[in-house]
Amino acid sequence: MSRRVVIANDHGAVAVKQIILEHLIRRGFDVRNLGVDSEESVDYPDMAQTACREYLEGSYAFGVLCCGTGIGVSISANKISGIRCALPQNSYAARMAREHNNANFIAFGGRISYAEPVTDMLDAFIDTEFECGRHAVRVDKIMGLETC
Ligand code: RB5
Repeated sequence: MSRRVVIANDHGAVAVKQIILEHLIRRGFDVRNLGVDSEESVDYPDMAQTACREYLEGSYAFGVLCCGTGIGVSISANKISGIRCALPQNSYAARMAREHNNANFIAFGGRISYAEPVTDMLDAFIDTEFECGRHAVRVDKIMGLETC
């Protein structure tokens, strides 16, 4: 598995991006930070597009996207061919996003009060492998929807 991760965020998620960035570095990942570090307003679809393009061009393990809710960046990312972006509510969902959905992006909201630390959710995502089997058929069906 590559140790490279791409991350981007808008102005609604500067603090959570920083927490995630530092956690990834502590875990030994080489992180490409394409997000903003100020509260000056930017458009979340642009941030999602920039990170997804970088992911698709480079050999990244996965990508992380953050905005105020995580919703805008995840909707945007999932419009891009080849991207499966999860917006987990907790560590269970983060684990399932890898195990069942083979998600290659994970999104978080900087203005959301999660019941668990985002770093726990991120660790659950990182430390889980895709189960393949029947899930591969379903993920193929997801990707087939890109041409609909
Ligand atoms: C920006 O104000 C906010 O709309 C954005 O961060 C995000 O929450 C959108 O989904």
